[in-house]
Amino acid sequence: MLSKSLVGCSNSPKASAKIESSALSHIYEEAYKKHAQTFNMCGYAAPKIDKVRVGVVGLGARGQGAIRRLSVIDGLEITALCDELSEQVQKAKERITTSGHSAVEFSGKEDSWMEMCQRDDIDLVYVCTPWYLHAPIGVYAMEQGKHVALEIPAATTVEDCWKLVETSEKTKKHCVILENCCYDFFELLTINLARNGFFGDIVHAEGAYIHEIGKSLFYRGKPGRSWRLKENMTRNGSLYPTHGIGPVAQVMNINRGNRMEYLTSTSTDDFMMNNYAKELSQEEDYFKQFIDQPFRGNMNSTVIRTVFGQTIMIQHDVTTPRPYSRLHVISGTKGYAQKYPLPGRLSDPEHGRNWFSDEEFKAIEEKYNPPIIKKMQDIAKEVGGHGGMDFLMDWRLIDCLRNGLPVDMDVYDAASWSVLGPLSEWSVANRSMPIDIPDFTNGSWKANIPHDILLESGGTTGVRV
Ligand SMILES: NC(=O)c1ccc[n+]([C@@H]2O[C@H](COP(=O)([O-])OP(=O)(O)OC[C@H]3O[C@@H](n4cnc5c(N)ncnc54)[C@H](O)[C@@H]3O)[C@@H](O)[C@H]2O)c1
Repeated sequence: MLSKSLVGCSNSPKASAKIESSALSHIYEEAYKKHAQTFNMCGYAAPKIDKVRVGVVGLGARGQGAIRRLSVIDGLEITALCDELSEQVQKAKERITTSGHSAVEFSGKEDSWMEMCQRDDIDLVYVCTPWYLHAPIGVYAMEQGKHVALEIPAATTVEDCWKLVETSEKTKKHCVILENCCYDFFELLTINLARNGFFGDIVHAEGAYIHEIGKSLFYRGKPGRSWRLKENMTRNGSLYPTHGIGPVAQVMNINRGNRMEYLTSTSTDDFMMNNYAKELSQEEDYFKQFIDQPFRGNMNSTVIRTVFGQTIMIQHDVTTPRPYSRLHVISGTKGYAQKYPLPGRLSDPEHGRNWFSDEEFKAIEEKYNPPIIKKMQDIAKEVGGHGGMDFLMDWRLIDCLRNGLPVDMDVYDAASWSVLGPLSEWSVANRSMPIDIPDFTNGSWKANIPHDILLESGGTTGVRV
């Protein structure tokens, strides 16, 4: 076996602190706690809201983008803006270029969002804060009678996943996870192909968040906004699982006829982040505080088994130098799809298992692209946000609320996709031992039906561009 130094690693990962498995025993306990369903939020249609009044909290990079997208949707009024930093609120105000918005400002305190949630001129609280605030704000906002939309992951602990489920059921308020990758065009095509039998029985799927942003996390943290770096140096596992699992879960009808049963998770050591900390601290003392912290292993691979004996692999790597990938692999008894490296491709099972040609692929798209793509693709690309998927997600959410339709990604999706994070942490800390994935639907998954991708109702919300 090659020693660490022979494979080019001057840093000894063993020397740095590790997260003790005993410190994570609460994750195991929470995963096996029993909870009863009090109301089934899957398929629930809340009363129509003709004009959806939105309060946005967290106006950093992602929140500013959300403001721009939300402000062009008809039947939507931005009534409140909240960020701990008042300059972020001012910036957001300037991004609203359409008429009809009268945003009240909340800032200055860590809990200014509470005051915002108490207002009675808000229907939806849209949350783009650091991860650890998603669930607390979500729970509080639902208790104040608001629907909530939470950036990813919706929660970082098993306990908070359950709190979101219980609060959504108790208040009958939607808790939507803002998993934009579920609205990327190839992913939507694969959902429709799955429903039309293209893959046969799905045997295995893969998803990921592989994005080389590791070194930049140190800079983003300067001077006081180091939340993402802190997550990466205090937790070890699949911290950002929902870009990978979201679209795959929808293809496989998870929580709607299918269920994730258990997972095992394995992480490499950290081969890079501690070296970055050392390198950067040569330039500036500020970075010395990050040396020898228990950085998460650079690559995490989590394998999930469903109750029907299928597997899903979710990978997470924000550090090694490789091209961006979310994998998005669907492998069935009859067909195969793979999105990365781009462009997305489909295999032709009848002709030597080769990829369909560009012309054949276009013909399949023509036939199987779901109506939401046909109707909204051009405008989504124009408004933008990761090529249009962000806008498609926002538009669809608002259209569902305005038309009183069930939401595509409900609280059970939010909880079961997000819980992979803390469960993977436990498994990693326990030599990749298996851990059950809680059934947040309490058995309702057997009768819950898949979400509508055919725009059978709704689709009435206009866009101002
Ligand atoms: N879906 C996607 O493609 C995507 C892309 C980027 C980020 N995100 C998610 O969006 C969220 C925000 O990420 P970001 O990159 O914008 O981070 P950021 O650090 O740029 O922004 C976070 C904002 O939250 C504010 N904030 C912090 N504490 C607060 C509090 N107590 N009350 C009010 N505001 C508070 C900060 O001042 C900051 O403006 C994260 O959950 C991230 O995972 C999602």
